[in-house]
Amino acid sequence: MADDHEITPWEVSNTFQEAQYEKIAKEFGAKIIDEGLREEIKYLAGEVHRFIQYDIFFAHRDLDQLLDGYKKGRKFYLYTGRGPSGKMHLGHLIPFMFTKWLQDRFDVDLIIQITDDEKYIFRDTSEADLKKYTQNNILDILSLGFKPEKTHVMIDSDNSNLLYNYGIRVAKHITASTVKSVFGLKDSDNIGKFFFTSIQSVPAFIVSAITGHNVPCLIPYAIDQDPHFKISRDILPKLGYEKPASIISKFIPSLKGSGKMSSSDETSGIYLDDDNKTIKRKLMKYAFSGGRDTMEEQRRLGANPDIDFAFNTYRMLEPDMTKVSKIYEEYRSGHILSGEMKMLAYEKITEFLETLNSRRDAVLKNMDDYRFNPERFL
Ligand code: TYM
Repeated sequence: MADDHEITPWEVSNTFQEAQYEKIAKEFGAKIIDEGLREEIKYLAGEVHRFIQYDIFFAHRDLDQLLDGYKKGRKFYLYTGRGPSGKMHLGHLIPFMFTKWLQDRFDVDLIIQITDDEKYIFRDTSEADLKKYTQNNILDILSLGFKPEKTHVMIDSDNSNLLYNYGIRVAKHITASTVKSVFGLKDSDNIGKFFFTSIQSVPAFIVSAITGHNVPCLIPYAIDQDPHFKISRDILPKLGYEKPASIISKFIPSLKGSGKMSSSDETSGIYLDDDNKTIKRKLMKYAFSGGRDTMEEQRRLGANPDIDFAFNTYRMLEPDMTKVSKIYEEYRSGHILSGEMKMLAYEKITEFLETLNSRRDAVLKNMDDYRFNPERFL
């Protein structure tokens, strides 16, 4: 791995530097989403999601093959997940918003793995807190509007029997030296950390295992999770299953413009339970701006929207791409000032969070409908 960046699921540094992504993807062995693949997606899905058009989802593994199969009538399923280590921020929603679009467009089943075991092993979170985060994170995710009849939430601790039985089959083929080099683990790390990746592999073949025939799997995630699936792709064929395909996103930079959004630093991101006043304060006080130092300069020289937190967040949440282009131009040319851009983002964020909040009660009442149950695949 190059020394100017480091990406594992637990350590992401310097990922905000745009230019590095292509290099990282290639180093990892993933492919960049090219024009041909975009055309194919458009043909099959009817449109290309804006996250692909904006190059947020920028790389893949075998997505072309998976879509070829789909065209010939081979249905796939989706698999993604969340480690409930704390409150969720807007960046966490990127893979889930995109996954919802995939589910809607391809009308396929989705497994959402909630790795409470991972957070138990890797963090000092108390069991009571883990339970709380697990429930709240699931509610946050499901409030995006996933279809209950096709969505299967797999909380690891509730499915330990199945995950252990299949996880050990994966574990048997992974050496300690592989895990050390892929995840940067050390001899002094607890052995749970060494085993954990086997558990994250299981949902990538569980539908094939349950049904007794190979069902292709597509996994959307941000690039920090790629090391897990690099391993899955090596091992699964040894167990008689197909390699999972993936579609990979960049990291949304933190509020302050660099580094990772973190649950331990309240000012590093916008959290889904932030109230309007907090959101406004965070945007005005901390949000990294691509604008100029003075109003006069901004009017004369314009801003750099590409590195501007408020603009990028607005773009993430506004589905109308024509509107977004217009704002981009106005901000770039100095017609919009930094504070005005922040207000536009503020309105978008609060509107989006209000919609999520308004759905939470209904989701809460029907939580059982989403529970992972192998029989639902038979
Ligand atoms: P977790 O909880 O760290 O992150 C959940 C998902 O969000 C992505 N992500 C981000 N995407 C864009 N910008 C950001 N700033 C940002 N921060 C996080 C992550 O890549 C992830 O897709 N071990 C996993 C849980 C998991 C999983 C999976 C994730 C289990 N199975 C399959 C993806 C696919 C975790 O702790 O994710």
